[in-house]
Amino acid sequence: MKKGNWLVAICFLFLSTTLIGVFAQPPAQKEAAIPASSYKAKDYSSLLGMQGFSEKALNAHFKLYQGYVTNTNLLLTTLSSLTAAGKNKSPEYAELKRRFGWEFDGMRLHEYYFENLGGKGGNLNPNDPLYAQMISDFGSYDKWKADFIATGAMRGIGWAVLYLDPQSGRLVNTWINEHDVGHLAGGTPILIMDVFEHAYMIDYLLDRAAYIDAFFKNINWETVSQRYTQ
Ligand SMILES: [Fe+2]
Repeated sequence: MKKGNWLVAICFLFLSTTLIGVFAQPPAQKEAAIPASSYKAKDYSSLLGMQGFSEKALNAHFKLYQGYVTNTNLLLTTLSSLTAAGKNKSPEYAELKRRFGWEFDGMRLHEYYFENLGGKGGNLNPNDPLYAQMISDFGSYDKWKADFIATGAMRGIGWAVLYLDPQSGRLVNTWINEHDVGHLAGGTPILIMDVFEHAYMIDYLLDRAAYIDAFFKNINWETVSQRYTQ
């Protein structure tokens, strides 16, 4: 073969191989819609050293909280992927959608909880507007506190929550089962106490009452009061 013919043959081979490679690639996958913003785990290490809460218990609790943040983001991404793939009528989509509230509430309730800790504890200032509302709805601050403690001491795993019903202005002590059952629609969480076993067993074994006592010694009443007045 002449030299020129060789060059033409090599060029033809190169081009045809390249074109075959391009057209042989699988069609591009539909990219999942990435949420505009993913949740970031907050740093609560400033709580380390709280009286009645060991570092071991707090660090384990922070790690558990971070898992809820991770899974909340994972569910958002996975649900978007299923929608993008036209699989939003699948059992997988339905089950993950049902799970979302549990993971999200697990994340958010822990944030409320950690943020209403780290204070000086004691009792709420009698001059605080929240104090007056407690008297109005429970008879006295002490009666509110006894009812909140009774709520937190209930058998089972969940959360004791002091809720404000903004429509009536009423305060209600509420039990949230697990993370996602028992919320008051439209309610504003004012004070949150975690009574899952992981919150107290490392330090107190089965003595939940001692844990609740330690919780009250570390309430950040400023944060709690701001939630009420805002
Ligand atoms: Fe927890």
